[in-house]
Amino acid sequence: MRMTGRSRPRQNPAVFAPRTGTLARGVRYGPRNGVANQPIAVASADGYSSTNRTSRKARHELVERTPDPRQPKLIQGVMMPPHAALSPGRVAVITGGASGIGLAAARRFAALGMKLVLADLRQDALDKAAAELDGATVITVPTDVSRIEEVQRLKERAYAEFGEVAVLMNNAGTSPGGGPFDHYDRWQRVLGVNLWGVINGVHAFTQAMVDQQTPGAIVNTGSKQGITCPPGDTAYNITKAGVKVLTEGLAHALRSIAGGQVTAHLLVPGSTFTGMTARGRTEKPPGSWTPDQVVDVLVERMGKGDFYIVCPDNDVTTDVDNRRILWSAEDIIRNRPALSRWHPDYAEEFAAFLAAPSPFRSN
Ligand SMILES: NC(=O)c1ccc[n+]([C@@H]2O[C@H](COP(=O)([O-])OP(=O)(O)OC[C@H]3O[C@@H](n4cnc5c(N)ncnc54)[C@H](O)[C@@H]3O)[C@@H](O)[C@H]2O)c1
Repeated sequence: MRMTGRSRPRQNPAVFAPRTGTLARGVRYGPRNGVANQPIAVASADGYSSTNRTSRKARHELVERTPDPRQPKLIQGVMMPPHAALSPGRVAVITGGASGIGLAAARRFAALGMKLVLADLRQDALDKAAAELDGATVITVPTDVSRIEEVQRLKERAYAEFGEVAVLMNNAGTSPGGGPFDHYDRWQRVLGVNLWGVINGVHAFTQAMVDQQTPGAIVNTGSKQGITCPPGDTAYNITKAGVKVLTEGLAHALRSIAGGQVTAHLLVPGSTFTGMTARGRTEKPPGSWTPDQVVDVLVERMGKGDFYIVCPDNDVTTDVDNRRILWSAEDIIRNRPALSRWHPDYAEEFAAFLAAPSPFRSN
């Protein structure tokens, strides 16, 4: 991969600004990825906190002096997001764009005045999606993301048509895969689409997007199943764990490019009612979110410069997600059995961990 450039020395985050008129709890802003005044750590009500030692008084003083230039602005009735890649006239390529979360992203990006390149398996599904985006500038490119030559063709088509790409959303996905030693054929399919599809997208587009020297963003759709890895569909979990690792490496590589303007983001939806999860149901289960809700969070958090964009749903709060993630990471350092969250000997301990006032470090 040709991504030259000096590593930028780590900058000292020194500027604080509120998300709103008041000090947003624990949110620190500072230079990041070469973009001034980006949030660099989020302290939530769950007890995560920044490591910055600036006093509360000093922080208030800084807040009062520093308006937040990244506040969304209402332009022609649309809340303009502050991520510079999400701008009118710029181009978004979305794989798996014919339905679910991909189509919701297409609707939102179109509402922001962006041009769209929708990729999915079937032309008829793409036609239907494009019809829904009436009024938007959109081209459709039937693509099997598991095949690198088709993803290369997608990239060539996007650049031939529009001359640039601002946003690449590697979102196409499929399930089910299988357990550790069954459904070998499904393993191949799921790894081909969910993992190789994202690898193919990153390999085909990234260098060209970097070379544009304009603000850009690469969003890869992961899953909580790639973080806490519940038993059941090991193949799917592996693909999403791989997407997380790939996207983390991509974020590091991109921020190490001197003057680089492309950011990477890992979108982690909660339970979302889509074709993938409907299983014959026509009505959204109460616990699930709609794809539009996921995209609301995506756009808002991209604007804040967040890398991990983990969505809650109507059943699982951010606090519960954080506890599950922490428990899972602690399996290793506490030498517990693999996937102890689902081990009967640990049921009581895990329940107590969920109910504890706060299992998180305070500094
Ligand atoms: N729905 C959820 O609860 C949920 C939760 C976590 C993560 N995700 C992830 O979100 C992403 C979007 O899924 P969704 O829920 O919107 O489901 P969806 O089925 O509505 O959308 C997935 C799209 O990917 C397309 N696709 C499948 N294989 C493809 C291939 N080889 N090439 C190109 N396109 C292909 C499908 O045709 C479909 O249009 C997936 O990566 C999925 O794993 C979904």
